[in-house]
Amino acid sequence: MTARYRVTPVSQVRGRIRVPGDKSISHRTLMLGGIASGVTEVSGFLASADCLATLEAQRRMGVRVEQLSPTQLRVHGAGKGGLAAPKGDLDMGNAGTAIRLFMGLLAGQPFESTLTGDASLRKRPMERVAAPLRLMGAQIRTQDGKPPVRILPVPRLQAIDYVLPMASAQVKSAVLLAALHAEGTTRVAEPAPTRDHTERMLEGFGVSLRREAGQVWLAGGQSLTGTPIDVPGDFSSAAFFIVAGAMAGAPGFTIENVGVNPTRTGLLDILRLMGADIRVHPRASAGAEPVADIEVRASDLRGIQVPEDLVPLAIDEFPVLFVAAACASGETVVTGAAELRVKESDRLAVMAEGLTRLGIVNELLPDGIRIQGGGRFQGGTVDSHGDHRIAMAFAVASLRSDGPILVEDVENVGTSFPGFVQVAQAAGLEVQGA
Ligand code: S3P
Repeated sequence: MTARYRVTPVSQVRGRIRVPGDKSISHRTLMLGGIASGVTEVSGFLASADCLATLEAQRRMGVRVEQLSPTQLRVHGAGKGGLAAPKGDLDMGNAGTAIRLFMGLLAGQPFESTLTGDASLRKRPMERVAAPLRLMGAQIRTQDGKPPVRILPVPRLQAIDYVLPMASAQVKSAVLLAALHAEGTTRVAEPAPTRDHTERMLEGFGVSLRREAGQVWLAGGQSLTGTPIDVPGDFSSAAFFIVAGAMAGAPGFTIENVGVNPTRTGLLDILRLMGADIRVHPRASAGAEPVADIEVRASDLRGIQVPEDLVPLAIDEFPVLFVAAACASGETVVTGAAELRVKESDRLAVMAEGLTRLGIVNELLPDGIRIQGGGRFQGGTVDSHGDHRIAMAFAVASLRSDGPILVEDVENVGTSFPGFVQVAQAAGLEVQGA
C-alpha cells in the first residue's frame, strides 16, 4: 500500500506560514561547497530526500559535512582536485538535479563513477547532458540515454561553445560545472532564460564569469573558496500556497522568506495576468538571492493564454497552476511546455488524467494543455504517479471541491517538501496522511 492524502474541502487559507529551503540552491551549496577550499556554512538547508542524496554522494567522495541541525550544515570542502573515487554506485534517488549536475561535476575527475536513481529517475533523459560533456572530451555511457550513467576518467576536458537546444538550467549548470575543469573558456547560450542559481553561487565562491544576454562565459581552472550561504524558502514550495491564496486567501495571508529570484517567479506574472492580487514585500538579503514575503488574497481569476516566454520561468509550478486554471473563469491554454513531459512524471498527461477524474474538462496538447475553467472539483481519487508536485497540487484543489479528494502515491512529497502536511494544516487546509 502506498501513502495517500485525504483532503477535506475548506473555503479559506489564512495566517503567515513558511516553507522549507530551496531545493535547487541546497543541491548547489553541497556541490560547490564540496569542491571549494575551506568551509561553507549553510543555513536554511532543505533536508529533503533529494538533497540528502547529494549530501550522501559528496560524503562518499570524501567531503566532510557536519549536520549541525536539520537546516544547518558545515561543509568542509575537499578543495581543487580533492574529491576521492566513490566505492560503488552513487544513488541519486528521485533527484534529476543531483544526477545531471553531478554528471558535469564528475566528467573531468580522474576517477570512474556511476550515477543511478529510482525507477522514475531511470526513465529520464540524460543524453541532453551527456552530449555537450562528450563534446568537451568526457567519456560518458548512458543506458539507452537513461541512467545508470557511467563516467570514465579522461586526461582533460576542453572548453566548448555550446548553444543549449532546450531551456534547461540543469544542462546549463552541468556544462558550467564541467567547464571549471576544462582548458579554455566555455560559452553557454540558452534559448530562453532559466534559473541562474549556479551562476550566482559560483560568483559567491569567487569564480569569475561573464554574463550577457542569455550567455555565460567561464574560464577553466579557477578555484572556489568556501563562503557562507543562507538558503531562502523554496519558491516552488511556496507556489502551492501562492495559488491557494489567489483562490481563497484571507486578507493578510502571507508566505514568509521566499526566494524571489526573477528566473523563478514566472508564476507570479502568470497569476497576475489571471487577475490575482499578489503583493511582494522584499526582505533584506545577505546573499546572492533576493528574498521576500509574498502576500496573496482571494481574487476572481480569469483564464488566459499563458505567454510561452514565461514557461521556463515557471516550469515547476504548472501542476498547481492547472488547479488555478480549473477554477478561473473561461479557458486557459498552455503551449510551449513539452519539457513538462520529462519531469518526475509526464506532468501534462498525469495532470490531465487527475483533472478529468475530478470533473474538469481539458484537452491534452502535444506541448501543453487546454483547461475549461469556471468549475468546481468533484470529490474523488487521483493518482499522483509518484510525482511530488502533482500530489501537493491536488491538495490545493480542496479549496474548490464539492467532496473529499484522495490523492494516491504521495511518498515522494518528501523529496522536496518535508512537513508539507503540517504547513498546509497551519494555513487551514485539511490534509491528512492516510
Ligand atoms: C532545476 C531545473 C529545472 C527544474 C528542476 C530543478 C535546477 O529542470 O525543473 O526542478 O535546479 O536546475 P530543467 O533543467 O530540466 O528544466
